[in-house]
Amino acid sequence: MADATRPPDPGGLPVLGNVHELASDALRFYERRSAEHGGIVRYDVFGTESYLVTDPKALRRILVEDHDRFVKGRMPREQLGGLLGDGLFLAEGGAWREQRTAMRSAFFRERVAAYGDSMVEHARATASSWEDGAVVDVHAAATEYAFAVLAESLLGSDIERERETVRAAAEAITDRFDMSRVTSFLPEWLPTPANRRYHRRLDALRETIRDLVADRRAAGPPSDPGTADDLLGTLVAAAELGALDDDELVDNAVTFLFAGHETSALGLTYALYCLADTPEFQARVRAEVAALDGDPAPADLRECPALTAAVDEALRLYPPVHSFFREPIEPVDLGGYRVPAGVVLTLSPWAVHRDGRWWADPEAYRPDRWLREDGNGEVIHGDDAPGPAVGDRPEYAYFPFGGGPRHCIGMRFARQELRLAIATLLRRVRLEPVTAELSLQASANTRPAHPVRVRIHARNGPVDTG
Ligand code: HEM
Repeated sequence: MADATRPPDPGGLPVLGNVHELASDALRFYERRSAEHGGIVRYDVFGTESYLVTDPKALRRILVEDHDRFVKGRMPREQLGGLLGDGLFLAEGGAWREQRTAMRSAFFRERVAAYGDSMVEHARATASSWEDGAVVDVHAAATEYAFAVLAESLLGSDIERERETVRAAAEAITDRFDMSRVTSFLPEWLPTPANRRYHRRLDALRETIRDLVADRRAAGPPSDPGTADDLLGTLVAAAELGALDDDELVDNAVTFLFAGHETSALGLTYALYCLADTPEFQARVRAEVAALDGDPAPADLRECPALTAAVDEALRLYPPVHSFFREPIEPVDLGGYRVPAGVVLTLSPWAVHRDGRWWADPEAYRPDRWLREDGNGEVIHGDDAPGPAVGDRPEYAYFPFGGGPRHCIGMRFARQELRLAIATLLRRVRLEPVTAELSLQASANTRPAHPVRVRIHARNGPVDTG
């Protein structure tokens, strides 16, 4: 039987396939199909066969064990190729390996720790812009915050001069991929007003980056990507080593701006919303960060298991990247099925993180599922302790940052940023929920469909900005 090794029939419409279900609510569609049909399930989009993969063992094989039999493939390139070009996010094979090796050191612990001051300083500025009793949109605030941190980490002191060009481009990129706007579905080359603005701003950003690169070359770039002061310095040094050509250098600056700003903003938004919604756990995190000797430094985060659990649980329940893609370069056997070369595989943190087989009460925000006692009566974050992770979930039941050699290069940066921001904010304010229920939409990332409102209460009278 030719079909015996293919995953269950998707049951969609002729030609359209499952397009209508995906377009109306992709997140529920992934969740439902995974719950109904298990770890590997087929769906069709305009006659293209795609498989949704939610079995942690199969995910591990794709991302780790057999990673070199898979490429990112055409889906992300079709969506993002015009924007990210041949930068790290989309590069494949040898070109990807060379870039990743050259940039790795920029994300080592000490380098990421050096961004800590900027992460705290911008969070202080956010807190001081909030008035006691005000209702604020934490999505807007988190977006502003993550932009400021990333722009500074990318360009260092050059950001002072170039802030507006970078901000305008970042905004245009976010709008271009906003699936609640009908225009986002139109091809990039159509001369709609939104597309014209997008191209104009992106061209200005690329031009600015080229100028900055020329300045830095003239000043003498660092000889080692690991010793640069900012991400652009890393890229220039990597180019000097021959790991990137000049177009790839610019593509990578845009890649960092795109990959590192909205995702972090969303992670922070959901963590703040979840904490507002669970006052008892928020009080626990607040007590933990209030006990620190001043605003947090990266090294203090080890003493903050509840804060870490709050972030990890928010990234479980609302993973900013709801799904990403791979294609096998040759036929592979996966979860008992034969998967032909070139089929689009959709790997969905969203669906896996909400699977009742791995997570008790999966739809609830329960940060203490990440905590346990260390035997001396101390509460610790389970994943920081030796031995198996909390509970007996398989490794790939949780993968908000992807996995294997192509896991998110900004993971340490983002986890540090989210925790430093929350610690700095909660040392000053208490959050009360106003938005009763989140409604989400699956754009390129998992975005809130509406403002996410919380009420600010200064901890001791007026908001303390010190
Ligand atoms: C909470 C925040 C973040 C989340 C949830 C997130 C998630 C992810 C995921 C799931 C991937 C893997 C995609 C795939 O395998 O197809 C990825 C890759 C990537 N991320 Fe992040 N990310 C975050 C923050 C950042 C930051 C702050 C940066 C940069 C400073 C960054 C830069 C990148 C890059 C360059 C890649 C491609 C890596 C490669 O292919 O070698 N991300 N991210």
